[in-house]
Amino acid sequence: MVLGIALSIVAVACKTKQKTTTTTETVAPTQSLLEVATVKYPGISQTDLDEGKKIFTVDCVKCHGAKKIASRDETNWIKIIDWMAPKAKLTTDQKTKVLQYVLSQRALEKGAK
Ligand code: HEC
Repeated sequence: MVLGIALSIVAVACKTKQKTTTTTETVAPTQSLLEVATVKYPGISQTDLDEGKKIFTVDCVKCHGAKKIASRDETNWIKIIDWMAPKAKLTTDQKTKVLQYVLSQRALEKGAK
């Protein structure tokens, strides 16, 4: 409640100063990865996302550095994960989770920009 009021004060403050950045700065912090993910994948759990993130940050950085999620579009990521999953020796389940994490995280980052 207090946070809600604080945020709306910030929102009003931003609106008067910079019209162009208002939406991004006020909407982004209120959305969690799980909320964004649920829109794309109804029924997805925080555990699924955590596992996907772990695969991305552990298994997917063994050969190269962490790749930037926001710099590739969804179609690209689907192709890349099809290509990389065998390299990382992922099971079908792990592949699904890492893809769901990447596309959700991408949506979250894009929403924040
Ligand atoms: C066995 C080694 C290996 C593993 C494990 C691996 N990759 Fe790669 N990856 C490569 C190589 C080799 C390339 C091509 C050279 C490069 O871009 O670094 C590549 C390229 C990429 C690229 C750039 C593709 C492009 O458009 O050029 C992305 C993004 C990527 N990997 C993501 C991932 C993800 C996500 C995972 C986990 C599912 C993963 N990689 C696991 C070896 C690996």
